[in-house]
Formats: sequence, structure tokens, C-alpha cells
Amino acid sequence: MKIEDIKNPKARAWIQEMAEMCRPDEVYVCDGSQGEYDRLMDELVASGLGTRLKKRPKSVLFRSQPSDVARVEDRTYIASQKEEDAGPTNHWIDPAELKKTLTGLYTGCMKGRTMYVIPYSMGPVGSEIGKIGIEITDSAYVVCNMDIMTRVGTRVLDALGAEGEFIPCLHSVGKPLGPGESDGGSWPCAPMEQKYISHFPEERTIWSFGSGYGGNALLGKKCFALRIASVMARDEGWLAEHMLILKLTNPQGRVKYVTGAFPSACGKTNLAMLIPTVPGWKVETVGDDIAWMKFGADGRLYAINPEAGFFGVAPGTNEESNKNAMESIKENTIFTNCGLTEDGDIWWEMIGYPPPGKDIIDWKGNRKPCPPKDKSPKGEEIAHPNARFTAPARQCPCIAPEWEDPKGVPISAFLFGGRRPSTIPLVHQSRDWNHGVFLGSIVGSEVTAAVISDQVGQVRRDPFAMLPFCGYHMGDYFRHWINLGRRTTPDKLPRIFYVNWFRKDGEGNFLWPGYGDNSRVLAWIFDRCDDQDNAVETEIGLMPKPGAINTEGLKVSEQVMKEILSVDREGWKKEIEDIRKNHYPKFGAKLPRELAEELDKLEARLK
Ligand code: GTP
Ligand code: SPV
Ligand code: MN
Repeated sequence: MKIEDIKNPKARAWIQEMAEMCRPDEVYVCDGSQGEYDRLMDELVASGLGTRLKKRPKSVLFRSQPSDVARVEDRTYIASQKEEDAGPTNHWIDPAELKKTLTGLYTGCMKGRTMYVIPYSMGPVGSEIGKIGIEITDSAYVVCNMDIMTRVGTRVLDALGAEGEFIPCLHSVGKPLGPGESDGGSWPCAPMEQKYISHFPEERTIWSFGSGYGGNALLGKKCFALRIASVMARDEGWLAEHMLILKLTNPQGRVKYVTGAFPSACGKTNLAMLIPTVPGWKVETVGDDIAWMKFGADGRLYAINPEAGFFGVAPGTNEESNKNAMESIKENTIFTNCGLTEDGDIWWEMIGYPPPGKDIIDWKGNRKPCPPKDKSPKGEEIAHPNARFTAPARQCPCIAPEWEDPKGVPISAFLFGGRRPSTIPLVHQSRDWNHGVFLGSIVGSEVTAAVISDQVGQVRRDPFAMLPFCGYHMGDYFRHWINLGRRTTPDKLPRIFYVNWFRKDGEGNFLWPGYGDNSRVLAWIFDRCDDQDNAVETEIGLMPKPGAINTEGLKVSEQVMKEILSVDREGWKKEIEDIRKNHYPKFGAKLPRELAEELDKLEARLK
């Protein structure tokens, strides 16, 4: 398609303007067809960037530059008009200054390349909760990933019409080509100091430069569906959250929908697809990373998954830990930074079997002898720890039939969690809404390889798992959550829980088996939502009555169960001290009074 085929004059003018700045050799408007995807993938393979996998139909492996392997939080900016509106947890640059710097970088940046225009919908096309974006990119890899992760093409332009609103998203890998020059099979991107993942919240615009990887480049995901959408949600009274959405059916056939906010690489995809070990229960997937939620006419919150695919962490995914993900990636899947076996398949640490053959190609493209057995990754080995698969959600065997319902699914519970080796118990429930918002606000987690950072492995506060994704002042975000609690009656609000699958013993081993066994905790949560008599009040909130968590067939000693289900009073006192000294003061006068009160009340209960 050509620019002239777009009926929206605002879109045409914007694309024209960007083309004049970036000066591509040609402009191509994506129609979202299978033929187009196949053609672009053929080109990527012919150019040497992608490798077709003999073992997986229509699947291709890519290797990025070793410097371009994850989100870059230090190069991610919220360029609001006022610095105060970005708040203490975001990087800020004056928007005029940033536009000027970026205009310099974008000028001529697409020379020798094609500018692809991707009209896409976040959410089912035409859903009242869904929204439209247009991404401009000079990366065919990005186009193919967006094809899987969102709904792309002509049907979106039809829904947009002449008058519709869209979020303009500009992306370039930042590597123009000279006459006759090609990438020579190596991943194009710009050096770190030229990468800018920038958001202009008032203009509702995204400009991303210099990276081709994941959340930096697939702009519908973190940039739009979280950073820009969180600003829209604040203004319009809804929620854009870093949450999985799952459907839970109990043995009696009753259904509840639950969302969960855990930081990056902390178990959302796994929880969303789990196979319960408690008999009679069923889990189905609605979403694995992002939830957009609005109040329905009945006063309940309804959630949609704005995405259409999974961009999932590869290492650790195997038939035992996540069978449904393994099924989802059998075909039509893009793999990035995985190992390549001699027989033409991908491989990663903890895939469940040693690689076949003598040699293997690692994620950097180097030939190595096959490791004799599969083992836990210790760093950058055969696959990068943030190696990912991009797979269509419709290929997931446990996808819920209603996952594309435009009106969304009604939510009964919110889960918060993170990787906490100590203190935080396996599960506890908030006393009420404000206490639940307090729990969300104090979430902490060990930093994972999903971000390029020298803090990997250290615990940091990651409120609501939104630290890198909130597009405005986190104190105002807390206020937004407190206020939403007054929008409906308490019985219609989701109940709020804090879970922790990641408690460790002195030797660094996980105390809780996790994965499918997390269904035991989900079953307790389900019954809590019906106010069943299965909880006791403690200083920190409601916890399972002795015996209320089904442990039949579970390989965990009674002593360990007691340890992970009791209140660690000394640990919590330290937690309170840290929140008081290092966490809450960051938000200054914007910290809602209600949260300061919750902290005081918790401290008083623990005295
Ligand atoms: P993003 O896509 O980055 O947002 O990550 P995510 O939150 O979806 O995390 P994901 O489910 O992909 O899990 C990341 C890593 O955590 C994988 O290596 C998993 O094997 C591991 N993991 C997931 N669930 C559990 C669990 O219950 N226990 C333990 N010990 N590890 C888990
Ligand atoms: C995350 O980091 O939370 C992800 C991967 O889901 S990315 O798309 O790179 O943000
Ligand atoms: Mn995520």
C-alpha cells in the first residue's frame, strides 16, 4: 500500500513529515497480510539476519548485537512539559531539547532503507477499550514481530477512518546505509549513547531511536500500552497495567478472572499458562503481560489484553515448567538470541534436555561444544538470559475462548508479587482496598536480565511492577489507584493479594516449587474472593488458616510450609524502616496521605 491509500489526513501528514526527516529510499504501508509477512521474512533470511529452523515450520532465529539485548531503562525518557510530572522514578529531558537532539539523529537516518508504516490496534479491532497506533520503522524484523504481537493492517486503517485518533510511534534502528552498503547479516542498531526511548506524554507521541530489541522497538508494547496508556488512563479514569490476565475455573465449574502484576521476568507468562497440580481446577490464558481495565456499567472492572502475541522469556521454559508455552512456539514463531542446534532447532538453558549433536551455535553466533547436560543458566551461555520467543496467542492450547472479547472480562482479584528471597510470605491478602494499594506500592524484586543494568540480582522497589513503565509521577499514580477505590462499592472491587514464589533457603535454593503448584495458592485466592472462612487475620493482612492451602502430593515439608506462611516480624520491621527511609520520601508531597497512614498502621500492628 501507499501513503495515498490512507484515508486519515492527520496520519498522511504525519507520515509525510517523518519521511521528509528520515529520508528513506522508499515508504511502504503494511497491509498485515500473511503474504506480506512471508515476503519480509524471506528478505530477512536472504539478508543473513534470520536463520530458518528446520525443526519448526515457519519459524526463524535472529541474533542481536551483544549490546542490544534488552530494554534500556537508563536511556528511556518521559519528556513531559514539566520535570515534576515525570516524577522521581523516570528520566526526564525537556521535550523541546529532546526533540531537537532527536531531530538531529533522525535526519537522514533511514537512508538506504525502507520506511515501513504499521497501522496497528492494541485490543480487538473496534473494542471500546482498545486503541490504535501507527508505528513507523526501518526494521523488517520489527514489522514481523508487530504482526504477531498486535493486530496490523488494512482492517485497522478501516477502523481508523478519516477522523479516528491514533498514537504516532516513530522508530529507527539508527543505522543509515551508504550507497550499495548492506548490514552484511549483522543486527543494525546505534551505540548506547545514541539510544533514546522517548515519550512525549502531553503530545501522546513516541520517538524511539537506536535499538531494535523488544520493548525498545515494538512500540505498541511498553511504550504505548503502558507508558503512554497509563497517562491516558489517569486522565480518563481507567487502568493500564503490567499484568497478566488469567481465567480460573474451580471444580464446581465456577469461573473467576484474576490479574497479576509481577516485574519483568518474574513469572507472568508462566502463571498465565499454568497447568494446575490441584485436581479439578483449570487455568486458561487471557493475557500474559499487559491489562487495560475499565469500569463496566455494573460497577465492576473489565480487562482486555491489548496484545495478540507473547514476547516471552525463553530460558527456563520447558515441558515441565510451561508446557503450554512450548506448544505455542511449535511454529510461526520468531526466536531472538537463542542457541541453534546442529539439526536446525533452537536451544536454551533449562529447556529440559541436552542439545543434540556435537556442536551448538550460541546466541553470539559462535560454535561451541554442546554442554553435556541441561542446567540452570549462570549468565550469558548458549542462550542470552533475556532470549525471547514471539508467538501468536492463538497458538496457545489454553487460550481462553473469550480472550478477544471486546468488552473484556470482569476481574475478581489483583495479585502483586516479585522475587523476594526473604520476608514476604507465599501469600497474604490486604485488609481492604487502601491496604491493597499500599501493598502494590511497596512491591520489590531482584532485578532480572530483562533490562540492561548493573543492578541485576539486587532487590529494588518496583511499585505495581510499573517502575520502568509508568508514564507520569509515581505519586500521582498511587493517588489514581486510591481514587479508583471510591468509584464503586467495595464488594465490586477486585480483592488484592501479595504473592511470593521466590523465597530461598540459606543456600539459595527456592523453598516453594512454584509453576503448576502455584495453583494451590490460586485456589485459596479464588475462595477468598467468595469470602470463605479460610483465612486468619495477622499483623500484615489475611493469611491462610492452617491447612487451608491444599498440600496433597506437594513435595514441601511442613516446616518449610510454616516458614513461608508465617509473619517474619523482624523482616517486616526492616521492611518498614526501608520504606520509611528510602522509598516513600522519594514521592514527597505527592505521596497519598492514605499510604503513609497504612505504613503507620502496619508498624503499630507489629509493635
Ligand atoms: P516479562 O515477559 O519480562 O514481563 O516476564 P514474565 O513476568 O512474563 O516472566 P516469565 O513467566 O517469563 O518468567 C521468567 C522466569 O522466571 C523464567 O525463567 C521462569 O522459568 C521463572 N519462573 C516463572 N515462574 C516461576 C515460579 O513459580 N517459580 C520459580 N522459581 N521460577 C519461576
Ligand atoms: C518486560 O521487560 O517486561 C517485557 C519484555 O515484557 S520487553 O518487551 O522487552 O519489555
Ligand atoms: Mn513484561
